[in-house]
Amino acid sequence: MTNTMKIAALALAAGFIALPFNASAQTAPKSADPALVDAYVKATFGKAPPEWQERIVPDETLKTCNAFHNNVPSKEADAIVKRELAKVVYPADGKFLGDWKEGRKVANNGRGGQFSDPPGTVAGGNCYACHQLEKSEVSYGTLGPSLTNYGKDRKYAPDEIKNAFTKIYDSQAVFACSSMPRFGANKVLDEKQIQDLVALLFDPESPVNK
Ligand code: HEC
Repeated sequence: MTNTMKIAALALAAGFIALPFNASAQTAPKSADPALVDAYVKATFGKAPPEWQERIVPDETLKTCNAFHNNVPSKEADAIVKRELAKVVYPADGKFLGDWKEGRKVANNGRGGQFSDPPGTVAGGNCYACHQLEKSEVSYGTLGPSLTNYGKDRKYAPDEIKNAFTKIYDSQAVFACSSMPRFGANKVLDEKQIQDLVALLFDPESPVNK
């Protein structure tokens, strides 16, 4: 499998993204035969634990994105964004910024979401699979845009900080058929991990902004 396929397969396993596989984000996909895709999913994930099996079935949001090959008309897009936004739980104390040093670890961690994981494995965000963040990191995917200077470019504005929290918590609350995982909504990352990632993007001391 290519790396893109591996990422897609893992993301699919955890019910993160829409079918069919879409190697270059948000462009018109080549349709795969649905029966072939079903057979592939069954062969690969059929032995996963029962609590995983329900994740193989797409939810309303993914079903809509699939039906329109991710090019949803604005009415459907609005409905998705509204539904996903309702899932976002903001920090009770209104603080969006955690510790960028911890966020750096989360961004670099690609563990989790595999049924071979030992119990208690803490999942990471695997952000580098799709994004450039620190300039010194040479290995990163390009499915998503570069996030270098993210906070600096946005003048560390409070509304941009909140938007980033929303984006990481539930990427489809911002962009209806995004191929970025819904980290908070799908319980891959917890609130503190997301705050730490927001700090990685927005702390002026973070290497992302240096
Ligand atoms: C499977 C690929 C994938 C992974 C993994 C991923 N992203 Fe993304 N991300 C994308 C794509 C594609 C976009 C652009 C489309 C969109 O906005 O949804 C994006 C957009 C973003 C944006 C908005 C960028 C802008 O233009 O303002 C932020 C912020 C972001 N991602 C942060 C993260 C963080 C932090 C992580 C790790 C926890 C992460 N992403 C993991 C694919 C990914």
